[in-house]
Amino acid sequence: MSDLEAVLRSLPAFPEPLPVLSADDLPEDPHALFRSWLDEAIASGARQPHAMTFATVRADGVPVARTLIVKDIDDDGYHFSTHRTSRKGMELAERARATMLFFWRESGRQVRITGTAAALDDAASQRDWRERPSYTGEPNPDWQRYALAAEEFEFMQAREDRRHTRIEYLRSDGGWTHAPVATPAG
Ligand SMILES: Cc1cc2nc3c(=O)[nH]c(=O)nc-3n(C[C@H](O)[C@H](O)[C@H](O)COP(=O)(O)O)c2cc1C
Repeated sequence: MSDLEAVLRSLPAFPEPLPVLSADDLPEDPHALFRSWLDEAIASGARQPHAMTFATVRADGVPVARTLIVKDIDDDGYHFSTHRTSRKGMELAERARATMLFFWRESGRQVRITGTAAALDDAASQRDWRERPSYTGEPNPDWQRYALAAEEFEFMQAREDRRHTRIEYLRSDGGWTHAPVATPAG
């Protein structure tokens, strides 16, 4: 074992104690569960509870990811904003399918949201631009607010025995179904 491997192995992956996610007591609506986890992360004082990893697919098929901030959640979906001509902006213009991954280390929770990103209108984008700390009074036609309309969720709650609880929600007939995802033993 290398020195690095020994150091890495000594680091705890999760804090203890961890909250428990009961598969028997879940809301029908994944947005409600997401919102309760986000609210709890904010209330706990976790740093950047609104940061997530945002993954797109490049034209050559390679998945690429970066950190973004979720700006709001409404009927359009999970809002984020960026430059339209950034790499991710260009990737979304080609393929609107994208994934958001939230990780709240203090509670051992992870949520993956997969869906389709839609560009919101200019008024929403410019309002977002004006609210940025770096705003200097000039509009920015390259700034774009998007909403990711969710089609799949996977909620993961880590467990101290490492038999983590994972729940998948899938969109069906305008509603949602959910079921546990089997976690390989070990
Ligand atoms: C905590 C954090 C939050 C960020 N939030 C945003 C954001 O909301 N919008 C954005 O365009 N870039 C944000 N960035 C920068 C992106 O991660 C990325 O470097 C940049 O948008 C360029 O990405 P691209 O070349 O893949 O398009 C953030 C970075 C960090 C570390």
